[in-house]
Amino acid sequence: MAKIGYPFTLGVASGEPTSSGVIIWTRLAPDPVGLDPGRPGGMPAETVPVRWQVAEDERFTKIVATGTAQAGPQWAHSVHVKVDGLRPAADYHYRFSVPAASGGATSPAGRTRTAPARESGDPVRFAAASCQRYEHGHFSALGHIADERPDIVFHVGDYIYEGGRPADPPPGRYVRPLERPERTCRTLRDYRNRYARYRTDADLRAAHAAAPWTPIWDDHEVRDNYAGTRPGDGSDPEEFLRRRTAAYQAYYEHFPLRVRPVGTGLHMYRWRPYGRVADFLVLDARQYREPGDMLGRAQEEWLVGRLDASTARWKVLVQPTFFARRQFPDGSLSTDAWDAFPAQRARVLSAVDGGLVVLSGDVHNNWACDLADDAGRPVGVEFVGTAITSAPPATDNAAILAANPHIRFHDGHRGYMSGTAGPDGLELAYRVVDFVDRPGSPVRTVAMFGVEGDRLKGLISDAGLKSRDQPPSN
Ligand SMILES: [Fe+2]
Repeated sequence: MAKIGYPFTLGVASGEPTSSGVIIWTRLAPDPVGLDPGRPGGMPAETVPVRWQVAEDERFTKIVATGTAQAGPQWAHSVHVKVDGLRPAADYHYRFSVPAASGGATSPAGRTRTAPARESGDPVRFAAASCQRYEHGHFSALGHIADERPDIVFHVGDYIYEGGRPADPPPGRYVRPLERPERTCRTLRDYRNRYARYRTDADLRAAHAAAPWTPIWDDHEVRDNYAGTRPGDGSDPEEFLRRRTAAYQAYYEHFPLRVRPVGTGLHMYRWRPYGRVADFLVLDARQYREPGDMLGRAQEEWLVGRLDASTARWKVLVQPTFFARRQFPDGSLSTDAWDAFPAQRARVLSAVDGGLVVLSGDVHNNWACDLADDAGRPVGVEFVGTAITSAPPATDNAAILAANPHIRFHDGHRGYMSGTAGPDGLELAYRVVDFVDRPGSPVRTVAMFGVEGDRLKGLISDAGLKSRDQPPSN
């Protein structure tokens, strides 16, 4: 076995919590963005046994589970360990090590947490992030998520951006370099190195090490505005499917998922129950997309069935794109978000009897919306979270507010959402940073909402119902 350099450069992560277990993850990559085609991450083409430990305490004196996972070249020396037999609603700590023959290194420790038992009424603290274009800024917002140590972190897409360095970026926009060569991702090595470049950011590693994540992708994990097996630009679909398959593989290799890619697909829609309080329903709005159909028939049937059967106080859709109707000032609608799929949206809305909460991202601005069914009956709310770093589009946000009375709040900072769902209420804070063009921005709450009668209720007196548009900081 070859000696390798320090292999835990990409940190550790956990995810997909149930009431009895989590997945813990790491990937061995002594040279995270190395270009040697025979050595992804700088690893030799051999399998390395990786020892793992899960403990009740930070000092690893009360170890409750341990074992060895094989890290092989097929999955870029990533390991995904299913840990089971844990207590519900409990904190755990985990770490990895490689044998002395491979250098004997031990990883940093991560903290994770299981979901509550089915009958539990305990509140769940969650954070939601999206749109973290690396070259657009520093990930201070993710560092603040780490500080909050939520029970679970959702990422609703655009975890990476596949693009390369633009020929002529707007002044001040290109804040830090991508991995070399700074080109658009097309191959497995490109996507692997893009994830690895992102994970060289200490704030991103800290957010993964602080709490279990349940992510869902949007388009930029593969290609801007792709739909199903169609690239969206009229290029060769067979070539695109090969590219999508590579992108999905790299995605799997960098997240603690419960499932592996099968053929050209990766099953991403899923249900994460948190006691009697919340059913989190995570939706894949990209992989099965067809004209007129965002989710695909199987996923829609699954979703409607889950919504129908749910007895949880809150039914939370965790998904990438703007769900509420959003008419632009010129009368047009988005062709990439739910406005392009109104019949499917109506079917989803008619499957709920209230208590609906939609978490979304994609538009690089904070918005909050009331949701009603076709008959105008309030059924819940949508919280659209801004970007971690990605620059906002040039839209007239005051005019969007004026044209859409059910959209009740806008804010133009970068940041994330932080919420608490309990049996008697749900509160959500829009947490924002003041700058991303350098590290170290503080964080503050710019607005906070509750839900009353399946409608938004402003909880910070003056923060409820008007635009707080700010010029972007970069
Ligand atoms: Fe984005």
